[in-house]
Amino acid sequence: MSRSGKVSVIGAGFYGSTTALRLAEYDIFETVVLTDVIEGKPEGLAIDMNQSRWIEGFETNLVGQSTGPNGEGYEAIAGSEIVIITAGLPRKPGMSRMDLIETNAKIMRSVAENIAKCAPGAVVINVANPLDEMTALAQLVTGFPYQRVIGQAGMLDTARFTNFVAEKLGVPVSSVKTLTLGSHGDTMVPVASVCSVDGKPLTELLSADEVDDLVTRTRNGGAEIVALLKTGSAYYAPSAAAARMARAVHEDSGVVMPVCAWVDGEYGLSGAYLGVEAELGREGIRRVVETPLTDSEKALLIEAYEAVKAKQADVKDL
Ligand code: APR
Repeated sequence: MSRSGKVSVIGAGFYGSTTALRLAEYDIFETVVLTDVIEGKPEGLAIDMNQSRWIEGFETNLVGQSTGPNGEGYEAIAGSEIVIITAGLPRKPGMSRMDLIETNAKIMRSVAENIAKCAPGAVVINVANPLDEMTALAQLVTGFPYQRVIGQAGMLDTARFTNFVAEKLGVPVSSVKTLTLGSHGDTMVPVASVCSVDGKPLTELLSADEVDDLVTRTRNGGAEIVALLKTGSAYYAPSAAAARMARAVHEDSGVVMPVCAWVDGEYGLSGAYLGVEAELGREGIRRVVETPLTDSEKALLIEAYEAVKAKQADVKDL
């Protein structure tokens, strides 16, 4: 197998460390760098992960690097083709993603400045919450072209919706196709009209009320897990989503995925980061793909756009 390139993951908490290990286990990168502000944590995790290589059969080298308050250590990410930002606080029970905004914005500013300095050619994938706002802030602070800064949310929300449908109908997840657009929050838009099971429309298999229940559970998918965990938020499905996005960029695959991307006229909407389907490649977003929507789904997408646009307008003051 040929391996190439470097991908860096900022933040070695649950989300970051799981993402780093998934990326390494793909065995397609030469190097995966994992950083954190906690002295020794990324180094220790990288040693542990490297020691799993012989058992799991991958050769990608994991490098752990702690970073200091003035950007010390960031030279480790130099030359990264992709940088995934997971640094930031997760939610506690009862908190909304918006409750994290001030703390995570401070973290995002310092992380993004260092990425711009040390990995100026990278595609940035942000996962820190609140997702839409932190992605907009990452773009603002790095000054990178919009298509090179992406947020991860739609893959996760779609995976959750798919799993709920599969469990409800007792069918393999591979036979289910769902989609969510909009925001990673209250204005998430699960697109029931394109959902199907083995090619059959979901709306023929479940009643409108049953679909609504699954849509509601999807919208609250993160909070459901936070309430059970009590400390911290989900990371297995989220890391799978972020790692798949990085893989699509690395392989320049052109895979179409639901992601948080800058819209510039698609659906008649412009000037905000929004959950849409997009084709991913080496430069990040190759193009936003417009999914055919029903009138009511389109109205919900516009509602989501207006909500995220208003919030993103204030991001520069954070
Ligand atoms: N640079 C690098 N790492 C940082 C920084 C920083 N400036 N500030 C904090 N961190 C690190 C913390 O030290 C911690 O190890 O980020 C890590 C966060 O890890 P967890 O608390 O385990 O949180 P996690 O579940 O990984 O979530 C990270 O993803 O889903 C979102 O809402 C979630 O914004 C949160 C992010």
